[in-house]
Amino acid sequence: MEHDASIAEDAVAATLFSVYPHAEEELKRYVDILASRGLEWGLMGPREGSRLWQRHIGNSLALVDPLPQGVTVADIGSGAGLPGIPLAIARPDLQITLIESLKRRAKFLELAIEELGLDDRVVVLRGRAEDVTETFDVVVCRAVAPLEKLLRWTTPLFCPGGSLLALKGESAEDEIRNASKLLKASKLKADVIELQAAPEVEGTRAIRVQRV
Ligand SMILES: C[S@@+](CC[C@H](N)C(=O)[O-])C[C@H]1O[C@@H](n2cnc3c(N)ncnc32)[C@H](O)[C@@H]1O
Repeated sequence: MEHDASIAEDAVAATLFSVYPHAEEELKRYVDILASRGLEWGLMGPREGSRLWQRHIGNSLALVDPLPQGVTVADIGSGAGLPGIPLAIARPDLQITLIESLKRRAKFLELAIEELGLDDRVVVLRGRAEDVTETFDVVVCRAVAPLEKLLRWTTPLFCPGGSLLALKGESAEDEIRNASKLLKASKLKADVIELQAAPEVEGTRAIRVQRV
């Protein structure tokens, strides 16, 4: 069983490298950081070490397609750098701010971007998303909060002209329904987009929020 999982991981990694050849070396180095310091510091659960490529890198890179060229991006609740760091590696045109409230996680992010040589266009902002006063073209996030809460935190960060892309699973439609009053009051619209980082890599979904 474990053997099968590691073959599947190798296959996902190989497919990702075929689609993002320029990113292969840096993605490998980032996965090494997650598998070593990420586990040691408790940022990744002990079971995550054997499924980093599919569950974390492939999932994060699903956002490559909907991100316009050359935009500024905020990854809120970045944790160990997901999805922000894989996106920064695959898309050298992006300027990315990783926003993370916990000191230890922010330290992990600072070390990782320095070691990966991304510090010229990736910055770490330690703090709560709702306290940030900067604005961005796109806000991205994964596994941080339900849509209604995300809207309360992030609308000032991406409005008036930007958008929010929140990686979500099966709950996406329910979350949009639950946030419908707030969406209407804020003159925002939300839809669900189906995404896939590369052929044969498991697909995912995101809620996209924009001005009406
Ligand atoms: C479940 S983790 C997800 C981390 C990462 N996005 C991922 O997908 O692996 C949620 C992260 O959001 C951070 N967080 C929670 N509320 C936040 C807020 N209001 N502002 C910034 N970060 C926040 C937590 O400290 C944590 O690192």
